[in-house]
Amino acid sequence: MEHFVSEDEKLDWKNNINVLFSEEALKKKVSELGYAISKDYKDRNPILIAVLKGSFIFIADLCRRITVPVIFDFMAVSSYGDSMVSSGVVRITKDLDYSIENRDVLIIEDIIDSGRTLNYLVKNIEARNPKSIEICALLDKDVPGKFKNKIKYKGFDIPNKFVVGYGLDYAENYRNLPYIGYIENIS
Ligand code: IMP
Ligand code: MG
Repeated sequence: MEHFVSEDEKLDWKNNINVLFSEEALKKKVSELGYAISKDYKDRNPILIAVLKGSFIFIADLCRRITVPVIFDFMAVSSYGDSMVSSGVVRITKDLDYSIENRDVLIIEDIIDSGRTLNYLVKNIEARNPKSIEICALLDKDVPGKFKNKIKYKGFDIPNKFVVGYGLDYAENYRNLPYIGYIENIS
């Protein structure tokens, strides 16, 4: 059994978090995104593809602000392990359950950092011949030399800091914070 948090860390796990987006700010933004998506996909029945694990809270809130019928599928990729530095390797650890051929696909991402993961995913999904493919990302990090991706629905641009909460983790911790913040002394 792996231990992710030491007893010392458990005691002050929230004390060094600087809040970037409050619960209220997230709620408002997610509503706006849901509204825009519902308008654009009127009379369509898109498949939402969330990228695990980080997107699980975002998609859970977002889908309840979408007023057109949707179906869900999930993919899991691993690119970072437990480190904060990109390894450069994107590996599919869980593939889609359904065929997406001739479907309207909306990829739901928690955060785009280098853009490498998304770039890989879009190519992979495009190869399966969907009718359309768009991206919805809650956060887009300002990093130099980013892979270019066309983000149709974007929540917030953020500075180049390591953020946690609302599904986002640091070594699997902090995902259950209801807000998004960055950890003091870590960029
Ligand atoms: P990219 O391939 O560099 O764009 O990395 C994307 C993935 O790295 C995201 O889906 C996250 O899982 C993870 N990631 C990147 N930046 C952060 C961060 O600031 N906090 C938590 N996870 C992050
Ligand atoms: Mg992650």
